[in-house]
Amino acid sequence: MHNTLSRSTAFHPPAACAWPVWESSVGLTGTADSKLVWFFWGGPPTPPVPQTRGEARAGEVAPPSADTFQSRHRRRPAGRADSRPSPGAPGQSSAGTAAVTAGGRERGPEGESPRSCLSLGPMDRSAGACGALEGSSIGSQKDRVVTEEEWLQKWQTGNIGFHKEQGHPLLQQYLDVLLNGRSGLRVFFPLCGKAVEMKWLADMGHSVVGVEVSEQALKEFFVEHSLPYCEEPVPEIPGAKKLQSVSANISLYCCSIYDLSSSVVGKFDGVWDRGALVAVNPCDRQRYVSLMITLMQKNSSYLLVTVSYDPNKHKGPPFYVPESEIKSLFGNHCEIKCLEKVDDFSDKHRKWGLDYFLEVLYILKFVA
Ligand SMILES: C[S@@+](CC[C@H](N)C(=O)[O-])C[C@H]1O[C@@H](n2cnc3c(N)ncnc32)[C@H](O)[C@@H]1O
Repeated sequence: MHNTLSRSTAFHPPAACAWPVWESSVGLTGTADSKLVWFFWGGPPTPPVPQTRGEARAGEVAPPSADTFQSRHRRRPAGRADSRPSPGAPGQSSAGTAAVTAGGRERGPEGESPRSCLSLGPMDRSAGACGALEGSSIGSQKDRVVTEEEWLQKWQTGNIGFHKEQGHPLLQQYLDVLLNGRSGLRVFFPLCGKAVEMKWLADMGHSVVGVEVSEQALKEFFVEHSLPYCEEPVPEIPGAKKLQSVSANISLYCCSIYDLSSSVVGKFDGVWDRGALVAVNPCDRQRYVSLMITLMQKNSSYLLVTVSYDPNKHKGPPFYVPESEIKSLFGNHCEIKCLEKVDDFSDKHRKWGLDYFLEVLYILKFVA
């Protein structure tokens, strides 16, 4: 077993593991061939036309199952951006040709100029990302703190309405923007929960690293995907554990994200930040973003999903993160573009007292 792996490996006896395990050091430098093709910038704000999520309507293509998604996105050759598949299919917005209309699946015909939705100047009820009206105040949310114990409690009681069993349609849709023609990426999932997208990306040949305070969540991830895993302590972080798939392409750290550093986890070619920045306590946002910036490789891509609603009507999480704050948090370090704004309003949000709820997707490019 010791000499069957084709990748650079180092043997570490795990603290607890069902099988003998190798820890791989593959991909730490993430030097995958990268061809950055960038988008249009600026342009006038457009009126809000959020995409509506839900059942496919006549003429639309429903979000594919995870299996369909995996088979369509499995292991692309490095440096080759895909051609644009049909509207509604995952990956329809290839890097360099990203359609940035606010209308999502209701986008215009092929050849129509993409409308840029970048509008990251000072805002106060001004037209913001993808043209929707947005306030810059987060109201009373700025003082709200959710403790780690409260998160653990949510997992223990099954209060995990944020978990998407079928994965997130926006990652399906914009995967090509994240990959940007590259293969074999190291992709980071901050505050990962048991996100099924980790399995998708691992199955496509990428190396996945996550961090999550709830050990229950991480164990459920491996069990629900029938993935054998082992666990071992993290010498640099007292009390932390690393749960790693036996195939070594999924490594999940059980600790607070604030305990991580690039000396422990290396740097990343991509990030899927869904339910992460919006779950971070508002008072910790700067700290979180400063850490994330230190974890990004040159030419890396960061897909960020935020939420937009009236913060005076719901205390969060998820917390409302205005576009102006995205700009002030990340703007000195990367190029930011709003890709899409999606109407995600449901009964749950109505019960929270809201009358609208949008998901907003950004792509951040660390080109420096
Ligand atoms: C809203 S959930 C999102 C989970 C996942 N990203 C998803 O899309 O399903 C936020 C997660 O962050 C975890 N969490 C909260 N604070 C954390 C911290 N400081 N470090 C690591 N994980 C944390 C919680 O336990 C919870 O699973």
